[in-house]
Amino acid sequence: MTNTPQNAPGQEQNASDYAHHASFMPKLGNDVVALLAPQPGERILDLGCSDGSLTERLVQQGADVLGVDASEDMVNAARKRGINARVVDGHQLPFDHEFDAVFSNAALHWMLDPQAVLAGVKRALKPGGRFVAEFGGHGNLAAVCTALTAALQFRGISVRGRHPWYFPTTTEYSQLLETVGFKVESIELIPRPTQLPMGMMGWLEKFASPFLHGLDEDLREAVLENTLTLLGHSLRDEHGNWTADYVRLRVAARA
Ligand code: BEZ
Repeated sequence: MTNTPQNAPGQEQNASDYAHHASFMPKLGNDVVALLAPQPGERILDLGCSDGSLTERLVQQGADVLGVDASEDMVNAARKRGINARVVDGHQLPFDHEFDAVFSNAALHWMLDPQAVLAGVKRALKPGGRFVAEFGGHGNLAAVCTALTAALQFRGISVRGRHPWYFPTTTEYSQLLETVGFKVESIELIPRPTQLPMGMMGWLEKFASPFLHGLDEDLREAVLENTLTLLGHSLRDEHGNWTADYVRLRVAARA
């Protein structure tokens, strides 16, 4: 994902990194795809499509899908799979009542002005169209965020302005959806501890850079090592395997 004024600094993503570190995310998308239940011929917008691996599944089910992502690199990777994809900032969706459904997996927590995003989603949908999404909800990565915050604060560094993600409660997100004109059909928080094949250091190096933005190399290393030590007590098992404390917010709403 490229930086926009609404995203925190240091959160660029590129497709080869994503394939290496986050390829497990689409595999975890089965339930939200089932909730979407794409129908042959339906026109669907995949918001934050990344490298298109989950978008491809919607296409295989016969839907006519457009993938959008803020990262040009991701869009190129999606196109290599034959996906119709465009570089679009999720805060500025340019679509006008043309989709039967808007779908999103593991992307909305990166977009820090959710009202702008949801207004664009509503505008993109035909009347009665559905919005089905899954992303990080309240409590997502609580241990990880707390450990990073503690490791920074030990060194007198404030975390203010460094937390790069939006993890709403169901109440907050329902209210936002209703404000922009959606009717919420289902919304829930689902704890989903997720094994990290790349280990916690690999995950932090890939995703936690906004917390470390502007720190010199030695300080970065020290904060990361300290974070790992704190997290080892709760997120590493006796064999050295790491789990991330993911919590999903899964929602279906109708325009
Ligand atoms: C998530 O899927 O919840 C997530 C992944 C990377 C960074 C932040 C959140």
